[in-house]
Amino acid sequence: SLPRRVRVVEVGPRDGLQNEKGQVPTAQKIRFIEQLAEAGLPVVEATSFVSPRAIPQLSDASEVMSSLTRLPGTEYPVLVPNMKGMERALAAGVRSIAVFTAASESFTRHNINATIAESLANFRPVVEAAQREQIPVRGYISTVFGCPYEGEVKPEQTLEVALRLLDMGISELSLGDTIGVATPDQVVTVIDLLVTKGRIPLEKLAVHFHDTRGTALANVLTALQLGISTVDSAAGGLGGCPYAPGAAGNLATEDLLYMLHGLGIETGVNLEKVVAATRSIAPFLGHPPTSKYYQAATAL
Ligand code: HMG
Ligand code: MG
Repeated sequence: SLPRRVRVVEVGPRDGLQNEKGQVPTAQKIRFIEQLAEAGLPVVEATSFVSPRAIPQLSDASEVMSSLTRLPGTEYPVLVPNMKGMERALAAGVRSIAVFTAASESFTRHNINATIAESLANFRPVVEAAQREQIPVRGYISTVFGCPYEGEVKPEQTLEVALRLLDMGISELSLGDTIGVATPDQVVTVIDLLVTKGRIPLEKLAVHFHDTRGTALANVLTALQLGISTVDSAAGGLGGCPYAPGAAGNLATEDLLYMLHGLGIETGVNLEKVVAATRSIAPFLGHPPTSKYYQAATAL
C-alpha cells in the first residue's frame, strides 16, 4: 500500500545549484528558495557550508542564509562537512543541517577528501554541537546503488554506514543514488536490509534519486510501496554532483508531485508554484530545465 502523505524535501537550491556552470546571482538564489517555501515545500535545502574551493557555486552560503526571509513552518537545512562549516552555519542563523558521507570509499575520498571512517569522526563534534543547539541533523549516504569509481556497491556497506550515523544520534538518513543507476529491485534489496537486518524504522529513511537513466520515478514508487514517506527532489530537475562525473540532476520536484497527486497522495505543495519557481531561475542556468512536467507546462 502507499502512504497517505509524503514529505517532499526540496534540494534544488543546494544539489541543483552546486552543479551549475555559471554563477547564479545571490539575490536570485534567495528568491528561488523563498518561492519554493511559498509553494508549500516543508523542507528547502538551501545551500552548503563547504570549502569554497570544492564548490565555488555555493561560496555565498553565509549571505544566502543571513538574507533569506524564512516562513515559520519551513525548514531550511544546509550541508555541513566539518566544524568549520558548522561554525559558519551557526553564525548565519542556520537551524537545520545535513552531514554527508557515502557507502563507497573512493567516492568519499573524491568528494570530501576522507575515508568513510574519517568522515564519521569529523561529523561527531558537528552532531554534538547541533544537539546542544537542538538542531536536527540529517545524514546523507551517497553511492548506495552504485559508485562512479568502484561500480557495484554492496548493500551491507550502506547498512554499516547507516547504523553508525544513527548511533551518533542523527535523526534521518537519505539514501543517495548519486549517479542515477538504481533500478527498483535494488531499492527493495537495500531498504529491506536496512529495515529487517538493521532494524531501522522506516520513518528515519528518505530516498534521493538522481535521474541520469530515467529510473528515478519508478524507484520512488517502489520505495513508497515499501513504506518510505520522505522523498528528495529538485525543482526543474536541477542538480548533480561535481564529484560524480556524468551524473544528471535530481528527480524533478514537478514530476514527483504530478505522480504523487495523481495517486491521491497529499504533499501540501502547490505544483504550479513550483513551476513558477523553476521558471524564475531558468534564465540563470546555462540550459533548459529537464523536468518533463515543466517542459509540458511550458510548451502548452
Ligand atoms: P580538505 O581540503 O581536506 O579540507 O577538504 P581541509 O580541512 O584540509 O581544509 C582545506 C581548506 O578548506 C582550508 O582553507 C580550510 O579552511 C577550508 P585554506 O587554509 O587552505 O585556505 N575549509 C573550509 N572553508 C569553508 N567551509 C568549510 C571548510 N572546510 C575546510 N566547511 C572538505 C575537505 C570536506 C572541506 C572539502 O572536500 C569539501 O568542502 N567538500 C564538499 C564537497 C561537496 O560539497 N560535494 C557535494 C555535496 S555531496 C552530494 O552532492 C551528494 C548528495 O546530494 C547525495 C547524493 O546524491 O548521493 C548529498
Ligand atoms: Mg544528490
